[in-house]
Amino acid sequence: MSLANKKIILGVTGGIAAYKAAELCRLLIKAGADVRVVMTAAAQQFIGPLTFQALSGKPVLTSLWDAASGDGMEHIHLSREADLLLVAPASADFLAKLAHGRADDLLSTLCLARACKLAVAPAMNREMWSAAPTRRNLEQLQVDGVSLLGPAAGEQACGETGLGRMLEPADIVAALPGLLGAGPLAGKRVLITAGPTFEAIDPVRGLTNLSSGKMGYAVAQAAAEAGAEVCLVSGPTCLATPAGARRIDVQSAADMRRAVLAELPADVFIAVAAVADYRVDVAAAQKIKKSTDAMTLQLVANPDILAEVAALPHAPFCVGFAAETERLAEQAEAKRLKKKLPLLVGNLAQDTLGQDTAELVLFDDRGQHRLPRADKLIQARALIRHLVNHLN
Ligand code: C5P
Repeated sequence: MSLANKKIILGVTGGIAAYKAAELCRLLIKAGADVRVVMTAAAQQFIGPLTFQALSGKPVLTSLWDAASGDGMEHIHLSREADLLLVAPASADFLAKLAHGRADDLLSTLCLARACKLAVAPAMNREMWSAAPTRRNLEQLQVDGVSLLGPAAGEQACGETGLGRMLEPADIVAALPGLLGAGPLAGKRVLITAGPTFEAIDPVRGLTNLSSGKMGYAVAQAAAEAGAEVCLVSGPTCLATPAGARRIDVQSAADMRRAVLAELPADVFIAVAAVADYRVDVAAAQKIKKSTDAMTLQLVANPDILAEVAALPHAPFCVGFAAETERLAEQAEAKRLKKKLPLLVGNLAQDTLGQDTAELVLFDDRGQHRLPRADKLIQARALIRHLVNHLN
């Protein structure tokens, strides 16, 4: 992961995740970045500036008024010279300030005066994250072109569990080359489907499957890290949108097909979604009443989105996924040839569905490539590296 010669201002705001910013600072420097740390007053309640001074080898800036001791324009110079302003952790209060363009301390002033990219890694309690004012502020920040890194879901310092944890420092660092347009997929449009589909039976019931969306979301994250412009067309999941990806939510296979076709052209199409092969021919307009009689649902085949996209005259480079319960190699390769795909990823459904890890086999014209069991994000990054080799 190279950030060689990139000038990064690391802004640290007040939250318990501030202690993780020390590790982040170390990893940024290890990746080759030139790091200057700016801390808010609240951040200094959690961790001392000396820690960052030792790690970055440079004095830490903490006050707008100290900065004014030079020519008084330190905030302008710093942000003009930087390639990236990264605020991690970004507290709910700091996001609110950013969304309103307030500039009452050095870090917020730098953000407002910047001429470089701004990325924030939010960290807060899950209730604060889902609170209406935070939602409004985030919408505004996205409109303003601020890149959002995370947050992740999991255990929180307050003892609760949910969305709001700061992304792990290594994941933040991995996302930066893509943000800075330095990845191997820079300038490429990558369209990805993920998750299950939901085929309505009546207004309250439907047919779906056990896909969690984890693999597709990991692929979207890895593609964004590699610098691609990523559009993620997602069936119903409860996952956070990966940093740098634009997400379109859909329900049925027909919705997914429409969204995918509307997003073309693309350079690459990666179909990770577990699309229902059948839908109910005519969904009931009203809730079907219970009865003791047997019930028959008339199902009709859904369109195969991947096969349709792969057959287009200016088709993107298409990657399929195949989850099988037996004879993986034989069935996956047959599927690849039938759908005319340059690359297909096979896995055993029972070993993968809903899990955080997967064991994958990549099938292409050169044969089979095994990716032994690992975290889905690690597998997704390996898949993207393999894809980049194909494109080259
Ligand atoms: O034929 P099968 O459904 O096993 O193929 C799986 C691959 O095809 C996956 O990449 C999946 O996303 C894609 N697919 C699709 N539309 C369908 C069914 C599968 O895009 N209706």
